[in-house]
Amino acid sequence: QSNSVVVVFGGLWWSFFSTCAGNIVPEKSENGGWRKDGDKVDLAEQSLLNKLIRHSLVRNRNQVEVLQRDPTSPLYSVKTFEELRLKPDLLKGVYNMGFNRPSRIQENALPMMLAQPPQNLIAQSQSGTGKTAAFSLAMLSHVNPANKWTQCLCIAPTYELALQIGQVIEQMGKYCPDVKLAYGIRGNRMERGIKLQEQIVIGTPGTVLDWCTKYRLIEPKKITMFVLDEADVMIATQGHRDQSIRIHRQLTKDCQMLLFSATFEDSVWRFAEQVVPDPNIIRLKREEETLDTIKQFYVVCKEKEDKFTALCNLYGSLTIAQAMIFCHTRKMAAWLTANLTKEGHQVALLSGEMTVEQRASVIERYRNGKEKVLVTTNVCSRGIDVEQVSLVVNFDLPVDMDGNADNETYLHRIGRTGRFGRRGFAVNMVDSKHSMDIINQIEMHFNRRITKLDTSDLEEMESLMS
Ligand SMILES: *[C@@H]1O[C@H](CO)[C@@H](O)[C@H](O)[C@H]1NC(C)=O
Ligand SMILES: *[C@@H]1O[C@H](CO)[C@@H](O)[C@H](O)[C@H]1NC(C)=O
Repeated sequence: QSNSVVVVFGGLWWSFFSTCAGNIVPEKSENGGWRKDGDKVDLAEQSLLNKLIRHSLVRNRNQVEVLQRDPTSPLYSVKTFEELRLKPDLLKGVYNMGFNRPSRIQENALPMMLAQPPQNLIAQSQSGTGKTAAFSLAMLSHVNPANKWTQCLCIAPTYELALQIGQVIEQMGKYCPDVKLAYGIRGNRMERGIKLQEQIVIGTPGTVLDWCTKYRLIEPKKITMFVLDEADVMIATQGHRDQSIRIHRQLTKDCQMLLFSATFEDSVWRFAEQVVPDPNIIRLKREEETLDTIKQFYVVCKEKEDKFTALCNLYGSLTIAQAMIFCHTRKMAAWLTANLTKEGHQVALLSGEMTVEQRASVIERYRNGKEKVLVTTNVCSRGIDVEQVSLVVNFDLPVDMDGNADNETYLHRIGRTGRFGRRGFAVNMVDSKHSMDIINQIEMHFNRRITKLDTSDLEEMESLMS
């Protein structure tokens, strides 16, 4: 693990974030959009899915970049939780969750979140970086248990995501019996006019707004820490942006604001600026996907039966630990799964009609090696971190709406192999002149050769793929 921290002084925050925005996973054009195969990209679902399948922090070699509000103040980072001088009961809760030492983002974010006087923070981080634990810790540490009113308010884009955060707080606060938590989510009915005694409220914008205004269960002026999680998902959800701003407007200007987002497109950034004045900014760069350790091939086929035969040949001649196969439509994915299963392969299928829980369990089984092959449509696989596969097959090539090579998706797909210095293979099925054009476009875009492979020639295959 490299421990590089880049501190950016001065300069425009705007340009800082504009540069950041470019490197992020290419979800941009597809936010909330429908694709041809009828699967909707749902950011909140994706986010939940990633939380469900995540049991430990992602191994990463990410760079942390810190932009301090006051560049002259010293930059604190911690390597242990002890350095934070937490209440012993809270520290016990942290260790009890299996956290031994702060994650990369926590090293810098925790001292800022716990600083006195309070500091505002905008942080970019993806799932699995320890972000939820970080702000849960900040809230638990922040509250005064003796005060029986709501002091920390946290909003998340969906019911399920709010519950997930709540579970982390409950677990971490296990040894702090005086700190109580309430869920401001649909179905949690409250009597009008009473005042909540829970020090922490976590919920979705609509309900939390009602609790602040209509029901007056919370006194916004007494809130001293406001956490807005998954800002990118939030503003992509109808109405949530306005509700968040309406909640925010009722808080005092001394209230500490913390905002998190996995991506920072312009719209997210503008929203963040509106909600978080004078922020410190932390950015965790995603590990760059690279094609350097991946050998790329294409196989010329006629139709799907032909592609299927090519796939079986690959399996016949190679030792493949785990493979991921991408199809364009649900129908094709189902067909392929059925036929592979018939051939005796253990196949997992990830498809759009499944619930988030079903998808999580499919991914879980695949990760644990119960199935060696994962067949998926593009939409389903977006944003899912499966960390290491040895073979990626584009049964259908990635194309955009206009039929051009979708270069970013290609990189994202095949970037699942060849990681952590291991070697990986990517095989593309080409079934028309058009798909050959796409291969050429991809070659041109990445300036990497994609080699022709004849899967019926065992010797050639062995020499090329060894
Ligand atoms: C694939 O499965 C379908 C029905 O499940 C069958 O009709 C077809 O022959 C199979 N194709 C191959 C190449 O095995
Ligand atoms: C992918 O890259 C190629 C070559 O640079 C380019 O012709 C093509 O338009 C790109 N595709 C998209 C969708 O931008």
